[in-house]
Amino acid sequence: MNAMKKIAALALSLGAFATGAFAASAMPMGKHHAQMKCEACHTPQNAVKGNAFVPPSDKTCEGCHGSYKDLAKKTAGGSEPNPHYSAHYGTSLSCSACHKQHSEPKSYCNNCHAFRHTMP
Ligand code: HEC
Ligand code: HEC
Ligand code: HEC
Ligand code: HEC
Repeated sequence: MNAMKKIAALALSLGAFATGAFAASAMPMGKHHAQMKCEACHTPQNAVKGNAFVPPSDKTCEGCHGSYKDLAKKTAGGSEPNPHYSAHYGTSLSCSACHKQHSEPKSYCNNCHAFRHTMP
């Protein structure tokens, strides 16, 4: 892509943020949530100083996926150690520290460890 096209694409995507009318599939997101509207995650409750587009709170994710505790039960015996429970963080590590919607997900633990955490 040449520079002019890049700028045009950026202007377009900024326009989409402003109207909020785009389907989530307009973003370069992961394979999940492709059909969801921005507002499903970027809710009015998450907005900070009128800006809706901040990383959503864990509560928003848990509203659809169940509590951290339930998730930890689901993933027990999967990727080890269990990414949804650790002695360091308990259930306080933000979902979006690992799961990304608009970029490559990465286990936050692996900033320090080398666990085989396969990110969905
Ligand atoms: C399934 C939930 C989900 C949906 C749907 C979603 N997002 Fe996000 N958004 C996130 C998460 C999680 C982050 C944190 C950073 C990341 O994923 O890369 C984020 C971050 C952002 C950010 C950067 C905020 C910051 O302060 O860093 C913008 C801008 C954004 N989203 C815009 C959008 C737009 C526009 C749409 C619809 C086209 C959308 N998002 C749909 C979950 C979602
Ligand atoms: C409005 C409901 C909704 C919200 C909000 C939501 N999701 Fe999802 N998510 C879904 C659905 C539906 C799927 C696809 C079906 C499935 O795999 O459970 C999915 C899939 C996923 C998957 C893949 C699951 C798998 O089995 O591989 C992950 C990981 C995930 N979501 C994490 C998150 C995170 C983190 C957030 C918050 C930033 C979030 N979701 C917000 C509904 C939601
Ligand atoms: C430390 C990184 C990390 C954090 C924080 C994290 N996850 Fe995960 N998540 C993972 C990994 C790794 C997997 C894959 C586990 C496996 O397949 O064994 C996973 C799997 C999932 C799945 C699929 C579960 C299934 O049915 O197999 C969902 C849904 C999910 N996470 C949602 C969330 C939500 C919601 C939060 C916050 C409340 C969260 N995660 C916090 C790393 C993380
Ligand atoms: C900021 C760095 C850092 C992060 C991030 C981190 N850890 Fe650790 N972790 C450590 C250190 C330091 C030790 C102590 C090492 C030792 O004594 O062997 C440790 C020890 C552990 C141990 C016990 C020793 C072992 O290696 O088996 C487990 C289990 C563990 N961490 C899990 C996790 C999980 C799960 C996450 C992510 C949710 C995580 N850690 C994130 C630094 C970190």
